[in-house]
Amino acid sequence: MREGLTFDDVLLQPRFSSIISRKEVNTKTRLTKNITINVPIVSANMDTVTESGMAICMAELGGMGIIHRFLTVEQQINEVIKVKRAHNFIIHDPYTIDISQNIGDVKLSMRNKGIHSLLVVDSQKRLKGIVTTRDLLFEDDDNVALETIMTSLEKLICKKVNHYSEVDFEDAKKILKTNKLEKLPLIDEQGMIKGLITVKDIEKRLEFPNAVKDNNGRLMVGAAIGVKNDYLERTAELVRVGVDVLVIDIAHGHSQSLLDTLYKIKSEFPHVDVIAGNVATKHGTLDLISAGADAIKCGVGPGGTCITRLVTGSGVPQLTAIMDCCETATYKDIPVIADGGIKYSGDIVKALAAGASSVMLGSLFAGCEESPGHTRIKDGQKFKVYRGMASYDAAASRTNTEKGYEINMTDYVPEGVETTIPYKGKVKEVMDQLVGGIRSGMSYLGVNEIEDMTKNADFIKMTAAGWHESKPHAQK
Ligand code: XMP
Repeated sequence: MREGLTFDDVLLQPRFSSIISRKEVNTKTRLTKNITINVPIVSANMDTVTESGMAICMAELGGMGIIHRFLTVEQQINEVIKVKRAHNFIIHDPYTIDISQNIGDVKLSMRNKGIHSLLVVDSQKRLKGIVTTRDLLFEDDDNVALETIMTSLEKLICKKVNHYSEVDFEDAKKILKTNKLEKLPLIDEQGMIKGLITVKDIEKRLEFPNAVKDNNGRLMVGAAIGVKNDYLERTAELVRVGVDVLVIDIAHGHSQSLLDTLYKIKSEFPHVDVIAGNVATKHGTLDLISAGADAIKCGVGPGGTCITRLVTGSGVPQLTAIMDCCETATYKDIPVIADGGIKYSGDIVKALAAGASSVMLGSLFAGCEESPGHTRIKDGQKFKVYRGMASYDAAASRTNTEKGYEINMTDYVPEGVETTIPYKGKVKEVMDQLVGGIRSGMSYLGVNEIEDMTKNADFIKMTAAGWHESKPHAQK
């Protein structure tokens, strides 16, 4: 019988290092065959971890968020749209409102879209003005005509262009600065809107130089789909709104239903990269790659809310699973995402040194401000709920969001649990610690690039006493 090891069983032996500052190491890595991210971390497609708030922060900080699928199709694509609209140098299709509307319509539209301004257009879609929340401040009567409170075109400074590609970043910055503007609409000779530049977007661009963006300068985002019911309709809609990567994951990814779904998605949407999983073996990895996977998600049962191994007796300790999956995937030049069981930044370093190109995190992010769900207080402590996607609660709520999904809860055998996680504040602070740990770990291995970590990785197995010694243990 083979021996299976996990993160707490091993350490990486320190190597000679010529790295002077950990800042000099490069944390860029491949997430999938065609997508590169700037730090090797993605947030899990779980309903207590990733919706648009988390995904925006993840992409701003150089990683990526995967929007979970326990949402209706409409809700899920709205989450993707929010990420896609969060950063723009130029907003190509700014939200507009017809000039014939009233203040009530403006408020409703702003609330639904989560925005603070709208461009006002006539029936021909020509720019007529702009309305912002400031214009609404002292207006209590929702029936007042929009036209009476908006800033009209005559008072607006616009830039005339035929196409948004004619606009230069520095030039736009100068116009905004000189005229003390918040917004700069781009229009053509006929007054048709060609885009919108906002000070906020320019500030964000400067604030997050490490952000992961698509070819149109928008933040990148992934979304999860299932293998049954509305998955094709869901995929078509997600692709339509510009999702960058799809994740098809089921608990037992080495299965015919996953392979069939993967074939179908890759043949109907060949231009979108697909991450497939979860698997924990060489054979599983090979079958998924043969079916078209652009990245493999590795992990059966290591997650913080998982009880798969207890319920089914199946699984592979995560470090061994990563090494096995990577052996096959590396040969096929397909990246592996190590998913689940990461408790410390050191575990990320071990996962990368074992061959993974990135890691997926759930519990480390579930207590963050940006994860979905309210912060609760119990015994003076703030916390957030974290639940496995195969938990009883998660399964029960799925009936409302997935078309055609039916489940008899009395027969349901959960493979996940619900728990609480102490509130951790902003995800940026958590990420800074994790990325700092990865950088130091790379320095201990003497490597500047993530892909070189396996070459210098010399794992040593430790006893329980070794693990005890690894944790703080000074006596009082
Ligand atoms: P961590 O350890 O970061 O793991 O909390 C996150 C990963 O756990 C997986 N996951 C589950 N696994 N039952 C399982 O066996 C579940 O209910 C469940 N929910 C999530 C998933 O791969 C996630 O990314």
